Amino acid sequence: MAHPFDALTADVMRAGGSWKWSGQGVADGTDRHGRPLLGAFVAEMDFPTADVVADAVRASADASRFGYLADAWVADLAEACAAYWTDRFGWSVDPERIRPVPDVMTALVATIEHYTPSGTPVLLPMPAYMPFLTVPGRLGREMVPVPMARATGSFALDLDALDAAFSRSGARLLVLTNPHNPTGRVFTAEELAAVTAVVERHGARVFADEIHAPLTFDGRAHVPYASTSAAAAAHTVTATSASKAWNLPGLKCGQVILSNDADAATWAERGYLAEHSTATPGVLASTAAYRDGKAWLDDVLAYLDGNRALLRDSPLPGVGTVVPEGTYLAWLDASGLGLDEPPAAFFAREAGVVLTDGARCGGPGGMRITLATARPVLAEALERMAAALH
Ligand SMILES: Cc1ncc(COP(=O)(O)O)c(C=O)c1O
Repeated sequence: MAHPFDALTADVMRAGGSWKWSGQGVADGTDRHGRPLLGAFVAEMDFPTADVVADAVRASADASRFGYLADAWVADLAEACAAYWTDRFGWSVDPERIRPVPDVMTALVATIEHYTPSGTPVLLPMPAYMPFLTVPGRLGREMVPVPMARATGSFALDLDALDAAFSRSGARLLVLTNPHNPTGRVFTAEELAAVTAVVERHGARVFADEIHAPLTFDGRAHVPYASTSAAAAAHTVTATSASKAWNLPGLKCGQVILSNDADAATWAERGYLAEHSTATPGVLASTAAYRDGKAWLDDVLAYLDGNRALLRDSPLPGVGTVVPEGTYLAWLDASGLGLDEPPAAFFAREAGVVLTDGARCGGPGGMRITLATARPVLAEALERMAAALH
């Protein structure tokens, strides 16, 4: 049966004016055949957000709630977020330990600055979310890339490589994204426990980026890293947001979850600046999403699952497709094509499909595609890519 999202055409998306459908870095916005480009590079969904979210933003406007954040709104967000995490992920978090930030990037900066010794390097499994490659450097920290292991058709954390990288570099922080962008991995409790053993061995900490937590498939449960053991809770700062699952990254509201007394005390003392730019309408909208947006999200997850099936059933000759376990991002391994240019450049020109080039994620030869679009648009993108290869 057709879903209302099926009716969203590329023209509708272009008219929406988003970065994904306008800022594609190609001067005239067409491919070699003169076809308009299809945007598949930004990690956001082309679907309109949940009514409860839109209603919350409208209510903010109606009541002129554009002032600074009130404590009551922060408390309400924390309660809604805690209830959602307890209900969906089985981790009961004290709402007092959930603090607002504008976004996950800000949480990472605050974690590096306030929770790691000055000047120490940061470990980053590769491939990774693009800005993570450069943020440590901007803070005067070395970013130590640790290639993930290629398991059959997928990726895994390379624990030995992480162990060696900690020893070699003296890093005191591991950036652990789960569900993982861009590989789509949803790490198991066993994998996370193995990470804890390595991190503990080096007296290090974890920044657990769980922004994609609500987006898992095939009955897989997201396991919050800090929930896996007392040791993990004691060395972790978790960051999340309603922004990926309910499609509201421009509303600038994320959450930091603190899982031990010492970190909560440090945040109380030093977290002020990180919290300061959080947007009031974003807090109100995120509260509505966590509290009343579950049915909308379940429908979106079912639709995204259909897009995963389409990806799985649309093999691209010579390209390895990694169907995501979570997130709406998929990794395409084009290293076997023998192209003499970055694969994303080839597909932008020849197929008019704008992808994230793997090199930007620290995974040259690969590409990241965003699946969260209308299924007919995804079908067209995959058909164009296949035709370009033929
Ligand atoms: C894994 C991951 N972390 C962080 C971010 C950035 O989130 P924010 O906009 O909250 O900084 C993204 C955005 O795509 C992401 O995929």
